[in-house]
Amino acid sequence: MTSTTGKEEPSPLPVLRVRQDLYDANFPFYQQPVEIGVFSLDGERRFFNDSRRLRYYRPPSNEKKPGFDLRDGYHDRFVKRDEGIKERLDNLLKWITLNRHLLQSRKDTKVASSSRLNRDFVTWRGHLTKLLTTPYENQEGWLLAVTLFQGTYYISEVETEQARRQREERTADHEEMMYMGYKFEQYLCTDEPDGTPDVGGVVNTNEAFCSVVQTKLHGHSLLFSGEVDCKDPACPNQKAPGCYVELKTSKEIRSPYQQRSFNRYKLIKWWAQSFLPGIPRIIAGFRDEEGQVVSLQTFETMKISHLIRGEWNSWKPAVCMNFCNAFLTFVKKVVTQDDPQVVYLFSWEPRRDVSYTIHKDPGLAFLPPWYLSAMTA
Ligand code: A3P
Ligand code: MG
Ligand code: MG
Repeated sequence: MTSTTGKEEPSPLPVLRVRQDLYDANFPFYQQPVEIGVFSLDGERRFFNDSRRLRYYRPPSNEKKPGFDLRDGYHDRFVKRDEGIKERLDNLLKWITLNRHLLQSRKDTKVASSSRLNRDFVTWRGHLTKLLTTPYENQEGWLLAVTLFQGTYYISEVETEQARRQREERTADHEEMMYMGYKFEQYLCTDEPDGTPDVGGVVNTNEAFCSVVQTKLHGHSLLFSGEVDCKDPACPNQKAPGCYVELKTSKEIRSPYQQRSFNRYKLIKWWAQSFLPGIPRIIAGFRDEEGQVVSLQTFETMKISHLIRGEWNSWKPAVCMNFCNAFLTFVKKVVTQDDPQVVYLFSWEPRRDVSYTIHKDPGLAFLPPWYLSAMTA
């Protein structure tokens, strides 16, 4: 390209367009997700290669009047994870190094030198959820760092300036509202399949049980992990993820306007989060101004989109999945340097295209040395 000054200018990097109508096509192929492993994080955020933090769903004794006080314990029985510590993909990478035998194909086991993962993408479920909802998002942008290493694209989120500011400036009411989501889990979960919830105990948000899932979207093989709230011990299909349950809270809906807004902005996030790992059921608690749960409602993940079809300003699962597919294809096209020190930073803001920049910055590189040596050994 030649500018008016007569100097050669580099041609601009390609962008990915985000308009909804560009992705309004048939639902793409999405393979039934399969759980290939699990791990747990304890109250001090220590990693365990097992299911010790899996909890079991225990239905309330009185479904009509659950009597859950979601504010209880906020001031005196709450240990909050330090959100300033950025773990990036570390826990998932730890799981990979400990479970490589589960990831090698039969062909590979004959070739001892092969260290490839044979998966196109490795990431967190939460990052994919953000991609799915992008065509409908008009508040929060995102930054996704991508590194290509031994043929696999690793995707790790970078906190935007806006998100950091909002996190650091959260009001006390907002902090309490976030606590209520975890307190709701405590009312409905037990440590043993036949136990009773310990509602007088401490809520510690360091603890987590994570499922590691593999699947395919169109031509892209995906390996991702997501936190799972609980497993239903009464579930006839005992195989994961079919027996997992996602728990959610939301403000009580008191007007048609609030209902439309819930359907348009909240259900899309709930659907995307649970659809990706194949979690079939979401149990929601609706709370009043005082933090009392006034009703419970079960949503079947696969039926959520039927609830909103034809509504004003509605969203379509196919648009979400087609956009995610297009983003992954875009990543494969532009990320060409297979080098763990190189980071391609994809950036998106509402009403804009997805653009990217390329960095060789140790502050952005996110594959830790212990992972690189384990994978090249
Ligand atoms: P609710 O979902 O009931 O709002 P999850 O639902 O994914 O299992 O997460 C449990 C709780 O963590 C949420 O409860 C919410 O309070 C909090 N939470 C989840 N994602 C969050 C995020 N991105 N930012 C802040 N809080 C979040
Ligand atoms: Mg959860
Ligand atoms: Mg939940």
